[in-house]
Amino acid sequence: MAQVMRDAPARRIILGITGGIAAYKAAELTRLLIKQGTHVQVAMTEAACHFITPTTMQALSGHPVLTNLWINSQGMNNQGNSNDDGMAHIHASRATDAIVVAPASADFIARLAHGLADDLLSTLCLARNCPLIVAPAMNRQMWENAATQRNIQQLIADGVILLGPDSGSQACGEEGMGRMQEAAQLARDIQAFFQPRLLAGTHVLLTAGPTYEAIDAVRGITNRSSGKMGYAVAQAALELGARVTLISGPTALSAPHCPLVGQGAKLIQVTSAADMLQAVQQQVADADIFIGVAAVADYRAAQTSAQKIKKGATKLSLDLLPNPDILGYVASLPKPPFCVGFAAESHDLIKHAHEKRLTKNIPLIAANLAQHAVGADDNELILIDHAGEHVLPRADKLTLARDLLKHIVALRHSLSHKGTMKHPIKVRA
Ligand code: C5P
Repeated sequence: MAQVMRDAPARRIILGITGGIAAYKAAELTRLLIKQGTHVQVAMTEAACHFITPTTMQALSGHPVLTNLWINSQGMNNQGNSNDDGMAHIHASRATDAIVVAPASADFIARLAHGLADDLLSTLCLARNCPLIVAPAMNRQMWENAATQRNIQQLIADGVILLGPDSGSQACGEEGMGRMQEAAQLARDIQAFFQPRLLAGTHVLLTAGPTYEAIDAVRGITNRSSGKMGYAVAQAALELGARVTLISGPTALSAPHCPLVGQGAKLIQVTSAADMLQAVQQQVADADIFIGVAAVADYRAAQTSAQKIKKGATKLSLDLLPNPDILGYVASLPKPPFCVGFAAESHDLIKHAHEKRLTKNIPLIAANLAQHAVGADDNELILIDHAGEHVLPRADKLTLARDLLKHIVALRHSLSHKGTMKHPIKVRA
């Protein structure tokens, strides 16, 4: 079985830290970015050094911290050696894929908005030829102040990308807008920013979560599914630049969104398999890719009761009817989108998944063991297509979703070049 290698292109960012309580979150952000395979060069303003030390940031990033336009914290120049040509602000910003300022104080935002360059970090920002991402952090009154709002509008007009701020309790004890986003959220959004836009111009339609088939006013039949995998695939599709429609059964999850790519998924919430099928029928016409991640309940009650069925001492029998196969319906359309299914099995995974791919007549199926997948944050997938089996090694569901979509892009491309894509896809042996 082929093991799919994850490509982890070494990305370089400058993490700028300015003076604010939220500077402590920059330590965790550095750790998470490095874990993602990003090279992090930290640059701190003088004020930032009052909140967190360059020593901490050097230890976490593994590189001397840039602190001063003239001389750095190690008594060396900003490249970490002594033959400085005085161009650290140019060299450092040229060798980077993005500058991320987190936290960005109200004062620093004002300086950015006015193009000031009176310290190393502001000079790096002004001299950059790469994207600038800013995560504001300040007291709510400072955030709401007309001057700050004017400066923020200026940054947006200048093409600066804003992450946050969030609303919530603040270090000063007040409650409101201005909290810096959590490090995990920032790391996730920054990673999303670096994804190749492989699905630009593509409409991806997905189903996710369970369906719920009512028996009476309070009881029903459902499948165990948190919706996490389907929502992760929707999130990853947004990151790759797709327009995403997510048709979801009942879950506790919020709609996927991708601020750095500038759009969210269209979320259509449904309850039963019949509702899900109807929503798919309404959305499928212009879909390029359909991914059935939903754990659709196989049966529904033949008769439902609007009132709660009273418990009795005798046996209760239910007549069950099979639900429509939504993926099967889409795959059998005269001009189907590129169809991908999921197979969750408790045993004989590969055998059942192969059979399912052929029965449903779809080019690709993602197989996983139900006991590993349901409700978990991590999983392992085996992708099965005409060429065989490809293992996506254990990872969090968003990483797996990105890998799955990259496989879909490559497979769709190769099948369309063989002239076997669409009208209809032939996958049977
Ligand atoms: O339930 P089964 O194992 O056949 O599910 C395989 C695939 O078919 C999954 O992608 C699931 O979303 C889809 N499916 C569907 N409608 C059903 C049952 C399954 O779309 N009624």
